[in-house]
Amino acid sequence: MPYKKTILSGIQPSGKLHIGNYLGVIQSYQKLQHTHQCFFLIADLHSLTESFDPDQKRQDVMDLALDLLASGLNPKKATIFRQSDVPAHSELTWIFNCLTPMGQLERMIQYKEKIAEQKSNVNAGLVTYPVMQAADILLYRPDAVPIGKDQEQHLEMARQVVRTFNHRFKYYFKEVDSMFTETPKVMSLLDPSKKMSKSAGEGHVINMSDEPEVIKKKLAKAVTGSGPGKEKSAGVANLFVLLESFADKALVEKFEKEHARDTIQYSELKTKLATAISDHFVDFRKTRKALSKNPTKVKKILTQGAKKASKVANETLAEVKKRVGLNI
Ligand code: TRP
Repeated sequence: MPYKKTILSGIQPSGKLHIGNYLGVIQSYQKLQHTHQCFFLIADLHSLTESFDPDQKRQDVMDLALDLLASGLNPKKATIFRQSDVPAHSELTWIFNCLTPMGQLERMIQYKEKIAEQKSNVNAGLVTYPVMQAADILLYRPDAVPIGKDQEQHLEMARQVVRTFNHRFKYYFKEVDSMFTETPKVMSLLDPSKKMSKSAGEGHVINMSDEPEVIKKKLAKAVTGSGPGKEKSAGVANLFVLLESFADKALVEKFEKEHARDTIQYSELKTKLATAISDHFVDFRKTRKALSKNPTKVKKILTQGAKKASKVANETLAEVKKRVGLNI
């Protein structure tokens, strides 16, 4: 078999995936599974750094697994697993914690944002979050990590861990590349100055699994407004981004022309866009529904994924322990 490069990526379980996630990462995962050895991780331990409810957490993990599998990620090709099923993640995190200066963690942008956002829950996990991410990555000794731009600082942190580790315990880890894919930035439907995000509320996002009527309703409420002069407002520009991603060229051109002539009817654009989006996810919805009736199958896939992941992860952890002196 020809040598395949390895990649690892992770997503926190925090509800159903939306079309911003789809265009941002899921589509690139779909392609990468054919060309790379892939590890896709459901970062459930990371997600405990935000307030949570145990039953909701179970549901979120199941939803993410369903979304990943129904989107066409094939467990025979890609290893899909749950972080907490592979204890090596927690173990390596601790070792890396002890190699990471506190000051470096306090400078992380996401950490500063989080402690401002959740003042009543500034837990220690928030501080060491990037250390666990470094452990997630390095356990699989990947060549690259496909991530969004907002994760670059975390990846740089993983490179820093690599440098520290290699310096103190002899060269072992190679530095990991970021893999940024060209993806459109999808904004919230109700507040197009912000990225599409679940945390703002259901009305702001279109989920991959939303039924056609729901998509129609959400789009009907999407803000359009007018831009300065002939320019598109942020809301309108966002609808065009979605149109370009999901509708055929002819339709995009039609609305572009009408926009230029100022004859555009946004209600028509929204209805056509709703159809384009729901058509795109027809198979996805069907597969997801069928799978959701068979949670035992989903659990089995995750268990098998964890088994495969553990093999690689435990090898790395054993080597790290040896180098650090945790073997006698
Ligand atoms: N921090 C990432 C995010 O919020 C999720 C994540 C956890 C991750 N572990 C990872 C991403 C390892 C890439 C590699 O998007």
